[in-house]
Amino acid sequence: MRSEILSLLGDDHPWNNLVQWHEQVASTNDHAKELAVRGAPHGTVILANRQTGGRGRMGRTFLSPGGMGVYLSVILRPQCKPEDLMHLTCAAAVAACDAVSAATGLNAGIKWTNDLVISGRKLGGILTELSFSGDRIDYAIIGIGINCRQSVADFDTSIRSFAGSLNMFACKSVSTAQVAAELIRSLQRMDEHLISGKEDIMERYRHACITVGKQISLLRGDTVKYGFAESIDESGALTVRFDDGSLQTVTSGEVSIRGMYGYV
Ligand code: BTN
Repeated sequence: MRSEILSLLGDDHPWNNLVQWHEQVASTNDHAKELAVRGAPHGTVILANRQTGGRGRMGRTFLSPGGMGVYLSVILRPQCKPEDLMHLTCAAAVAACDAVSAATGLNAGIKWTNDLVISGRKLGGILTELSFSGDRIDYAIIGIGINCRQSVADFDTSIRSFAGSLNMFACKSVSTAQVAAELIRSLQRMDEHLISGKEDIMERYRHACITVGKQISLLRGDTVKYGFAESIDESGALTVRFDDGSLQTVTSGEVSIRGMYGYV
């Protein structure tokens, strides 16, 4: 698998020598963190056929069966302050959409903040994690999981009604190696313009984000609030007009879109 991905990437790709392939890990993000702490260089890519403890946002599990998807983490060591990287998850989401498009021709959307979506079904997601030394970033890990080959029946019953895969929507059988190679390519391009191209990245994120202009609910702890998603600011925060008339900038919590993932 590694050699297939490398040959798709091409000999001259800057991250070519930094790609690792594992048959099974608990979580590629956890593995990436261990390597980063031991000094692994910028651009180290960890891919696994299967994750036994794949993680998502808000402590959720990301089911990662073998041979079905791409489970990838990359270690970045950006030379900037944490506040310059508020848009990192948005940038990774745009890169993931580019990779999906290049590998399959499909046009994926983004459900704020980090879900990849096609036709109301969740294809995968992004989990970014940062480590700081004082006011500098020591390393950033971008983890991306994309369901590629599942049919509806392959999904666990807990997610079957709203999970999707590239195969369910593409006209041809999807190759996980090709999706992985396109993901590495688009992440490396994103990395080159991460700071200088921030405005352009955020414009593309807004364009792909399906949450804006929709009725939403925001779950924080045990509290649910309802409102209308108005816009996304330059750091990726969601501006919401709540039903009580207040306008708030939302940076955390679970935002559901009315009419999706079972929220009616
Ligand atoms: C989410 O759905 O909230 C984000 C899912 C992120 C899953 C990817 S798979 C590769 C990397 N390793 C993990 O444990 N998580 C991310």
